[in-house]
Order: sequence, then structure tokens, then C-alpha cells
Amino acid sequence: MNIEFNRPYSKLFKTKNRNIYEFSINDDNIDHVTVDSFGDEWQAFHGFEEKEIQNLGDEYFDIVTQEMLNKSTTVLEVGCGSGRFLKYLINKAGFIVGVDPSHAVFASDNLLGKAENVMLVKASANDLPFENESFDFVYSIGVLHHIPDTYKAMKACVDKVKKGGYFFTYLYYNLDNRGFLFRSIFNASATLRKGVSKLPGKPKRLVCDILAIGLYMPFVGLSRLLKSIGIKESIRKKIPLHGYENKSFYIIRNDSLDRFGTPLEQRFTMKEIREMMEKAGLEDIIFSNNIPYWHAVGKKK
Ligand SMILES: C[S@@+](CC[C@H](N)C(=O)[O-])C[C@H]1O[C@@H](n2cnc3c(N)ncnc32)[C@H](O)[C@@H]1O
Repeated sequence: MNIEFNRPYSKLFKTKNRNIYEFSINDDNIDHVTVDSFGDEWQAFHGFEEKEIQNLGDEYFDIVTQEMLNKSTTVLEVGCGSGRFLKYLINKAGFIVGVDPSHAVFASDNLLGKAENVMLVKASANDLPFENESFDFVYSIGVLHHIPDTYKAMKACVDKVKKGGYFFTYLYYNLDNRGFLFRSIFNASATLRKGVSKLPGKPKRLVCDILAIGLYMPFVGLSRLLKSIGIKESIRKKIPLHGYENKSFYIIRNDSLDRFGTPLEQRFTMKEIREMMEKAGLEDIIFSNNIPYWHAVGKKK
């Protein structure tokens, strides 16, 4: 399948796997400190196991049907990071383009190896080098909340979807389906993030590893213990970080760095996300009731 750029690229990297196209970034809706922090993060975390990627992909794409995404679909991922979701989709989609403004695109290249139906592009959400309405399916997982104007970035992504195509996203939830205790624990961790995210690379990774052990693992351990003695999921769901019950320590370390190491993050209620998606030109919006909250898909009008 042939995906064309709408302008010339500024740099071409030839790796052992493929060409990676870099576009000069002419986008004021980007937080460069956050992007650099992600570049470092994905260089550190890119060794995902096949099974882990399958499980993770199944969780996120639970609301995506065959009709929305199949072997004849052209797909764009905005903010592909390590490329784990590109990898999840290579055998499910026709052709996929992964875009990220950070040097994480090289981590994606490594993870994807010689897969032929993937193209990698170094560019940003509000300056995507494609004509509008070029893709059947566009998605962005855990990205738009790290961009200063989340709606503007979402609109730029939706603009690239063909009429009748789909846009899927995951945005950090604003704890709108949680109780007081859960919110209080979470708000305390937000204060911690403000300090940790300012640290330079190595100390930041170390502190986040310590948090993975000291903060994530006690909750994850409790959730696993309750599971082992037969306590129902509906009860275990109330435990903070229950979603990590079936995740490896590697993913937990990665997410700890993601959660505490990122300078800019925003949170949205389901209602706010629905409003942004509608305003961006989507209809028939479906939210998953499952973790991670919130992930949703909508059809381009
Ligand atoms: C939490 S990571 C998610 C990566 C991937 N989607 C995943 O879940 O594995 C966020 C990614 O968004 C990228 N990003 C940050 N600002 C961006 C922007 N303005 N445009 C596109 N991507 C951006 C970062 O470089 C980073 O790789």
C-alpha cells in the first residue's frame, strides 16, 4: 500500500530494517521536555515479550471490531513510542504508519524488525505529513494527554481519518468512576510526580524503579493475593493499580517511569473525552467499561 507524504522529509535514516523519515517539527502544540523524556524512556524500555504485547493489545483494542480494522485497513498510530502497539497490529492491519516526534522511533524500528507493512516517521501530532482523510483507522494511545492542547491534537489526528473510518484513543481518566479513598491516594501520587519528573534521566529511572517496588508492588501483591484466594474481580477492581495484577514487573517499571517521570500530563472525564471526540467530527462513540480508563473509539462523520 502506498501512503504519500504531503511535503518533503528533512532527513532520512536507513536502519538495517527500513527507512525512517524525519520531518522538521513546525508545531507549537508540543511539550519538548516531555518528548525528550519519552525518547529516553523508550530507549530504556523496548524489550517487550510477544505474549505481553498480545495481552496488552487485547486489553486496549477490546472495543475495536473486524469491521473497523482488518487486513485491508490503512492505519496511523500517533505517538507510537516503543512500537508495541504497531507490533500488536502488524498481522491484523493492511499497512501501518507509526509516528513519534522522539527518538523512540528507533526503538520501534528495533521491536518491529523486518516487518514490511510498517513505515516509521519522526513527526508530531499537529504537523502530520499526510493529506487529510488518508487513513481508514487512526489511533493514539496514552499520548494526547501529554500534549498541551489535547483537543487540538485530537482534531489533527481525526482530520487524517477517511470519512466512515475510525479514530481510537486512550486518555488518562480523571478518576471520575472512583471513590474518595482512591482519589486521595492518587492525588498524593500526583504531588510526587511533580518532583520526580524534574530529575535528570538516570536518577529519575532509579526513583521510578523504587516507586515500582515500594508503591506499585504492595497494591499489585494485594490484588494477586486476593485473586489466589478466590476473591471476585468486582471486589479486586476497587484496589488501586489492580490493572497491573496480570502485568510483568517490566511493564510495571515502565509504567512507573511513564506515570512519575513525565513532566506534562492531563486527565479527562468520560464526558470530556466524548465531547472532544464529537467536536473533532466523530459519531457512534463507544467507551470500553474495562481498564485502562478511558479508551474509546468513534466513527468519522
Ligand atoms: C506514553 S507514550 C505512549 C507510546 C505508545 N503509544 C504506547 O502506548 O506504547 C507517549 C508518546 O507520545 C509521544 N508524543 C509526545 N508528544 C507528542 C506529540 N506532540 N505528537 C506525537 N507524539 C507525541 C512521545 O514521544 C511518546 O512516545
